[in-house]
Amino acid sequence: MNIRNIQLGPRPVLLAPMEDVTDIGFRLLCRRLGASMVYSEFVAADALVRSVNKTFQKLKVSDDERPVAIQTYGRFPDAVEDAAEIIVETAHPDILDLNFGCPVKRVAGKGAGAGMLQTPELMLDIIQRVVRRVGDRVPVTVKTRLGWDVPGLYIDAPDGGKRTPFIVDLAEHIQDAGAEALTIHGRTRSQMYTGQADWTLIGEVKRNPRMKIPIIGNGDITNGEQAKRAFDDFGVDAVMVGRATFGRPWIFREIRDVLDGTTTDMSADWKLDILKEQIHESIERIDEYRGILHIRRHLAASPLFKGIPNFRDTRIAMLQAETEEHLYDILEQIRPIVREHAEQA
Ligand SMILES: Cc1cc2nc3c(=O)[nH]c(=O)nc-3n(C[C@H](O)[C@H](O)[C@H](O)COP(=O)(O)O)c2cc1C
Repeated sequence: MNIRNIQLGPRPVLLAPMEDVTDIGFRLLCRRLGASMVYSEFVAADALVRSVNKTFQKLKVSDDERPVAIQTYGRFPDAVEDAAEIIVETAHPDILDLNFGCPVKRVAGKGAGAGMLQTPELMLDIIQRVVRRVGDRVPVTVKTRLGWDVPGLYIDAPDGGKRTPFIVDLAEHIQDAGAEALTIHGRTRSQMYTGQADWTLIGEVKRNPRMKIPIIGNGDITNGEQAKRAFDDFGVDAVMVGRATFGRPWIFREIRDVLDGTTTDMSADWKLDILKEQIHESIERIDEYRGILHIRRHLAASPLFKGIPNFRDTRIAMLQAETEEHLYDILEQIRPIVREHAEQA
């Protein structure tokens, strides 16, 4: 699958953009372990335009994580357009992705992110303007949800009474506005993260003969079998994985093994070494203080430690460690326990 000249190979598996999760160190590990492309967390257009230092730090990319997409969001077309220019000139991403899917109140409640599903004309205006501004240098792509809420999932079809799923209609307009790929998270805004992702509507968008751009399916993929079904049953061009990657960058190897029919030996020791590598990369590429803040979320959620008896104190110690050395010491101390737990499982 290609997005313009970016070759993502057969059945690509992408790391989803996630705030405070997809920092540069994690993205690098995911790429090394088989992610076909990785996304930055979303970057607020307003803050970029106001030159907020903390926001600029989110634009740091490394050549060895490419292809990498930087994602931005905003409510005002002027700001998003200017932010797009800043992103392209500062970070030189392989793709610029526009977020119209974030459901959280501080974003969607103000009309940005998934809030744009209530003002599709504004969404399309932003896409067109951003494409006009930076589309000569970088492909502009879009990530969104099925709709705002359940009643809003259907619209009257132009040819009469038949109702068309909102996202099927919107996807055509997004394509016409110049987006070069579309990611759909199979939930509405009002669902937030509850219930199950509905892939049937994603499949319907893909089957629409008018759609030419790649469709990336997203929602609830936690293993290789589910990724395979997403390709086989819904025909998507790529899948994107979010929450299941927390503390588990090797999920990309697991998924690739199923998709490609390969086998990778992934021992507990190997996984522990991967987490150490992630700690090292996050610290090296950001700094010790913020790198450790980023890695904590992964260590807290990692399935490598799930179900280990009496693990609470170790988990707390991991989350309180303030230096790279201290974290390594803790991980080395628990290595035999992690190994033993994995062997019993
Ligand atoms: C902690 C967290 C942060 C997220 N941040 C973003 C973001 O910055 N941009 C975005 O488009 N989606 C964001 N998402 C949504 C994910 O990219 C993805 O669409 C969603 O989690 C569904 O995929 P999953 O079921 O594989 O997790 C975030 C999700 C989570 C859980």
